[in-house]
Amino acid sequence: MRIPFFSWLVLVPICTLFLNFSTVFVVSHQCLGNQRFLLLELKKTLIFDSTLSTKLVKWNQNVDCCSWDGVTCNEGRVIGLDLSFEFISGGLDNSSSLFSLEHLQSLSFAVNNFNSPIPSKFDKLANLSYLSLFNAGFVGQIPIAISRLTRLVHLDLSSYSSPLKLLNPNLNVLVQNLPELVVLYLDAVLLSAHGKEWCQALSSSVPNLRELDLSWSNLLGPIDSSLRNLQFLSIINLSEKIFQVPTLQTLDMSYNSRLEVSLPEFLPNGSLQTMVFSYTNFSSSLPPSISKLKMLSRIDLVGCNFHGSIPDSIANLTQLAHLDLSNNNFNGSIPDSIASITQLSHLDLSNNNFESIPDSIASLTQLSHLDLSNNNLNGSIPSSIASLTQLAYLNLSDNSLLCKRSRISHTINQAEQT
Ligand SMILES: *[C@@H]1O[C@H](CO)[C@@H](O)[C@H](O)[C@H]1NC(C)=O
Ligand SMILES: *[C@@H]1O[C@H](CO)[C@@H](O)[C@H](O)[C@H]1NC(C)=O
Ligand SMILES: *[C@@H]1O[C@H](CO)[C@@H](O)[C@H](O)[C@H]1NC(C)=O
Ligand SMILES: *[C@@H]1O[C@H](CO)[C@@H](O)[C@H](O)[C@H]1NC(C)=O
Ligand SMILES: *[C@@H]1O[C@H](CO)[C@@H](O)[C@H](O)[C@H]1NC(C)=O
Ligand SMILES: *[C@@H]1O[C@H](CO)[C@@H](O)[C@H](O)[C@H]1NC(C)=O
Ligand SMILES: *[C@@H]1O[C@H](CO)[C@@H](O)[C@H](O)[C@H]1NC(C)=O
Ligand SMILES: *[C@@H]1O[C@H](CO)[C@@H](O)[C@H](O)[C@H]1NC(C)=O
Ligand SMILES: *[C@@H]1O[C@H](CO)[C@@H](O)[C@H](O)[C@H]1NC(C)=O
Repeated sequence: MRIPFFSWLVLVPICTLFLNFSTVFVVSHQCLGNQRFLLLELKKTLIFDSTLSTKLVKWNQNVDCCSWDGVTCNEGRVIGLDLSFEFISGGLDNSSSLFSLEHLQSLSFAVNNFNSPIPSKFDKLANLSYLSLFNAGFVGQIPIAISRLTRLVHLDLSSYSSPLKLLNPNLNVLVQNLPELVVLYLDAVLLSAHGKEWCQALSSSVPNLRELDLSWSNLLGPIDSSLRNLQFLSIINLSEKIFQVPTLQTLDMSYNSRLEVSLPEFLPNGSLQTMVFSYTNFSSSLPPSISKLKMLSRIDLVGCNFHGSIPDSIANLTQLAHLDLSNNNFNGSIPDSIASITQLSHLDLSNNNFESIPDSIASLTQLSHLDLSNNNLNGSIPSSIASLTQLAYLNLSDNSLLCKRSRISHTINQAEQT
């Protein structure tokens, strides 16, 4: 069928060709005629580099449009369109035939260079459940139209390559009609919302959210406790910005056990004093740059799936009074440098795999609570521990420590000293 048709095709002018295609292909091919017409119109209006394009450039009128690269159909209707990495530099506005491909469920324009606003006609694509405009080069304010795509499950508007804003409408308005959202990526989109505002917007509107990436979004902390209501949230990436907020003093994201948090390289001059991430899943090592958060006085990282050793740089956290790293997989030696944290009064390193206690621990004269139980400590108990006159609680049980040749495995539980 295709071959004779092809020979006829070269003879007719372009415009009549579209009309004829419609009638011919409805009968003989999967792709419905109007779908083919709309796709060809889209190709015609998009400005793209045909020397670098790998999909659009190959859209061939003589082939069933449902087998074109980047096109997915269901019963001859286009339901998926992937025009990512197509070197498109313009040609998408409100009049685009794209917005007549009403059966679309999945659409990606990721990594292009549109260099224009996101058209308001996006709301015509009401059946979209997947939309990626990641680094598509769109600029300016994200239109309200996106918030009318009520079936969205995956929305990626991340934009490192061009300035995209979500100010008016804001994040709150954007997500309020998107109850099915599971993945939301807005990296580098200018949001400028306060912690309470965006945390509450997310927790009240998108209860099924599992992945959230707001890196470089200019968000202001502190993160609000309402984020705890996002019980399915499993990945959050707030990148460095949240720790740079000069006024952020307390960050509590504890008990988000499904949450997989990635810690940034910390930058200096943060004012964070309290960092509580207990029972949140890090599955990483503790970055040495944590020492840059010089104002920290309390760190609770209990049960966070940390591994590796405690960085030596922790010594620089001279304001630290409370350090609880219990129930992780830390190993190696407890660093000698810990002796510099002279304010430390509460040190809990229990339930890890530490192998040695430094003698320098005796310098921590403010210690009142020391729990090193259930580690792999061996050798003898440093006699210097005796000089910790403030100690009220000491637990060294479940180690292989020696005390005057006899193996001990018991708890020393001193009464409060005077
Ligand atoms: C949108 O999806 C619904 C349910 O999946 C379907 O019934 C409807 O026909 C779709 N609309 C279009 C325009 O494809
Ligand atoms: C699309 O149309 C809306 C009005 O419906 C207008 O405000 C907007 O500027 C138009 N967008 C573009 C990219 O032309
Ligand atoms: C988090 O975001 C930063 C900055 O965008 C990126 O470099 C990093 O790879 C992301 N981490 C994860 C786990 O996605
Ligand atoms: C950070 O603090 C140091 C000294 O504490 C100061 O010299 C530097 O200018 C500060 N940097 C910023 C970006 O505020
Ligand atoms: C924590 O994250 C790691 C790596 O992503 C994963 O293998 C592990 O199952 C997670 N643990 C929990 C309790 O979710
Ligand atoms: C402590 O901080 C100083 C200056 O901020 C830095 O030069 C030094 O390397 C840090 N020490 C450690 C052990 O990281
Ligand atoms: C600590 O554990 C890591 C694996 O998490 C391992 O590569 C490293 O060799 C261990 N270090 C010591 C001192 O046992
Ligand atoms: C000492 O530590 C062990 C192991 O972590 C724990 O089971 C025990 O309850 C602790 N003892 C006291 C008195 O807190
Ligand atoms: C302590 O354990 C380490 C390895 O875990 C071993 O090399 C060392 O000999 C042990 N020391 C004593 C006194 O048993």
